[in-house]
Amino acid sequence: MTYLWLKAGHIIFVIFWIAGLFMLPRLFVYHQEATAGSEEAARFAEREKKLLKIILLPSIIVVWVLGIALAITLDAWSQGWLHAKLLLVLILSGYHGYMSAYAKKLARGERPLSGKALRLLNEVPGITVALIVILVIVKPF
Ligand code: HEM
Repeated sequence: MTYLWLKAGHIIFVIFWIAGLFMLPRLFVYHQEATAGSEEAARFAEREKKLLKIILLPSIIVVWVLGIALAITLDAWSQGWLHAKLLLVLILSGYHGYMSAYAKKLARGERPLSGKALRLLNEVPGITVALIVILVIVKPF
């Protein structure tokens, strides 16, 4: 039973985390279309800060904690699919960190990336998540 509750909790917070990772670059694109220093830009900075603090940070922590608890429960550490999955989750966690730093730059009025680059960056979670789910469901190796 514990294993099933762990897995249910794991997937629930995976959904919250990934939803937040999809939303954030979208907010950045609209933020950068607002006039720098305007009230609208300040409102976007506030939304991004809240999304990071209330949704993204708690979710990444719970996904890791429950994911590791599942791996311990299943003693899955020697399994190839988990190694590949962990590599992809590390990439996704790095992406989270990069986006969190970008939000701080935007709040300071810096806009290092173009709207086009941000839209391209938005593809990273989509592709990574598809690969992670294939690995954990199909367990090809
Ligand atoms: C953060 C590090 C993570 C670890 C250590 C981890 C580990 C695990 C383990 C050991 C299982 C149980 C597999 C089984 O029941 O056969 C599992 C299930 C699952 N994980 Fe993760 N996971 C992590 C992150 C993620 C992420 C980021 C996603 C999706 C984007 C994800 C999606 C899933 C799914 C969909 C399942 C259910 C698979 C099934 O029903 O068989 N996990 N995870």
